[in-house]
Amino acid sequence: MVIFQPSGIRGKVDDGVTIMEASRELGADIESLCGGKATCGKCRIKIEEGEFRKYGITSKIESVSPISEGDRKLLSKQQLRDNYRLACQTRIRGDVVIFVPEESRKGQQVIRKDAGARDIRLKPAVKKYHVTLTPATLHDNIGDFERLQTELAERFKLRELTIDYPVLLRLQNLVREDDWEVTVSVWKNREIINIESGQEGKSHGLAVDIGTTTVAGYLCDLSSGEVVATDAMMNPQVAYGEDVMSRISYSVKSEEGLRQLNQAIIKGLNQVAGRAAVKAGIKRSDIVDMTVVGNTCMHHIFLNIDPRYLGKTPFSPSVHHSLDIKARDLGIKISPGAYVHVLPIEAGFVGADNVGVLIAEEPYNQEETLLIIDIGTNGELILGNRNKLLSASCATGPAFEGAEIKHGMRAAPGAIERVKIDPKTKEVQFKIIGNERWSNGAKNLKARGICGSGIFDIAAQMFLAGIIDKSGRFSNRLKTPRLRKSGKELEFVIAWAKETSIEGDIVVCQSDIRAIQLAKGAMYAGGRVLMNRLGVDSIDRVILAGAFGSYIDRESAAVIGLFPDCDLENVYAVGNAAGDGARIALLNVDKRKEADIMARRVEYVELTVEPDFNNIFTQALLFPHMEDKFPHLKHILPENG
Ligand code: FES
Repeated sequence: MVIFQPSGIRGKVDDGVTIMEASRELGADIESLCGGKATCGKCRIKIEEGEFRKYGITSKIESVSPISEGDRKLLSKQQLRDNYRLACQTRIRGDVVIFVPEESRKGQQVIRKDAGARDIRLKPAVKKYHVTLTPATLHDNIGDFERLQTELAERFKLRELTIDYPVLLRLQNLVREDDWEVTVSVWKNREIINIESGQEGKSHGLAVDIGTTTVAGYLCDLSSGEVVATDAMMNPQVAYGEDVMSRISYSVKSEEGLRQLNQAIIKGLNQVAGRAAVKAGIKRSDIVDMTVVGNTCMHHIFLNIDPRYLGKTPFSPSVHHSLDIKARDLGIKISPGAYVHVLPIEAGFVGADNVGVLIAEEPYNQEETLLIIDIGTNGELILGNRNKLLSASCATGPAFEGAEIKHGMRAAPGAIERVKIDPKTKEVQFKIIGNERWSNGAKNLKARGICGSGIFDIAAQMFLAGIIDKSGRFSNRLKTPRLRKSGKELEFVIAWAKETSIEGDIVVCQSDIRAIQLAKGAMYAGGRVLMNRLGVDSIDRVILAGAFGSYIDRESAAVIGLFPDCDLENVYAVGNAAGDGARIALLNVDKRKEADIMARRVEYVELTVEPDFNNIFTQALLFPHMEDKFPHLKHILPENG
């Protein structure tokens, strides 16, 4: 018997399962940013000891497995003495009561994936045709399908149409149901994928962006292009690991791994489709087309393709080309004859989501040189113009998403998302998700941790206020109670305990700054290598793609050196451009062809084998850079910046 506190969730689990597995089974939701690899330390829980009469059990520390190596690595001696353990490393051996501290609770992620405003020329893959057939008679008794074929060819010039087999099985009854009047959905002027009796109006399609963390669906009216409903959810695979690598390792760890991950996303997408349909007042089976983008790993798992080779050199994917697969073959519950169009992928780590960004932003039609940055666990870059396009992927690690940061967390209510530091007094003001006010003007504002956009602000503000220097080192000359020693490390207090809900201060420590440096250095170096390859020494525009890009402060991003110098006026966010790309492909088949062509035209640069990458990366670890000049930031940066 396992009881989770304070939620009170309880249930019986098998002997020997980990506390993390038990929490998943019972729905107690413990944070797991590293997917159980004992590297993030976010799944810290406490084993309660004593007799719990209410539940009729006695909980003892002996009811769980002994302290593991992972516990020793990530927990302090005091925490171990206080019976804290890592949920992912600790196995259940008997009745136990487990306390899940606030910072280890998952919290509802804030999903920020609105559809962007875009002008899209309409040319959907699926169109509806309304026809009334001449009824069969003894003198005119050709097959129902041939009758339909002839009518569609004569009236709409649709020749050589084929028919989806299950639709054929329903055809006879359908044509007779409403006096030979039917509405036919035709896919790409080639195949009849649905027939309804009588005259039916609109057709709908669903564009889906499967992100590593969130999944967003845009339900569109295929005749007007309008987004009639959106729906988003956490990617249900998050329970099995936060980043792409942990998903790959989960899928290979057990025979069932891939199937579990695949089923999780299919089930999730069916929920997204169902909820979006309800919002739009239609049935899920009225959805007759679907497009999907996602990074290569999400793409493979969605298609139930083994992703193991994506994680090994030479990182080759199973398939590059776009695919059209019957929804029913994938287990997607929309109109059963509908196709799911999966956009192509560029390279092992540059996926269909990046292709979505490409067709949404069209750098290949621009004179100016654009740098498109998609910030996530895996940073993706596109650089180029109408002459040439390069792409790269860099392992930024999960620091920008809050993992590997002492008090890092997801973008959930209570997360610090904006920070200002007074350069003179070093006093801090912050804003948390779910509250519009700055901390100095708000009462009862309780912070739980720091999310990605807060991390950008903190690094930039600490640098501008002289709390850290160009190399990221904490200054030891400052006189402020906020800067203090903790063990051997220095740390800076962002929120005092009274301003938090975690019964302690929220701080940033030296290793947090190092993690940010590694992440931003990888991004910058990637951009710089691509510039060298393209033979340019300046960029005209920087586009921050990805939902996250919309929430980071562009000045903070520039100050820490996330990208090479650019006029801040020309740095802007475009929201979820990958999702917009899926929507564009849904509404215009020509853009699907364009995606196929462009995915092949983009030259992928493997940064890890670039001879000068390490050197460029080392220089890019500094704030904003060791040598590069930033004329556009001159008025902001400190003298020696
Ligand atoms: S350390 Fe347990 S999930 Fe990361």
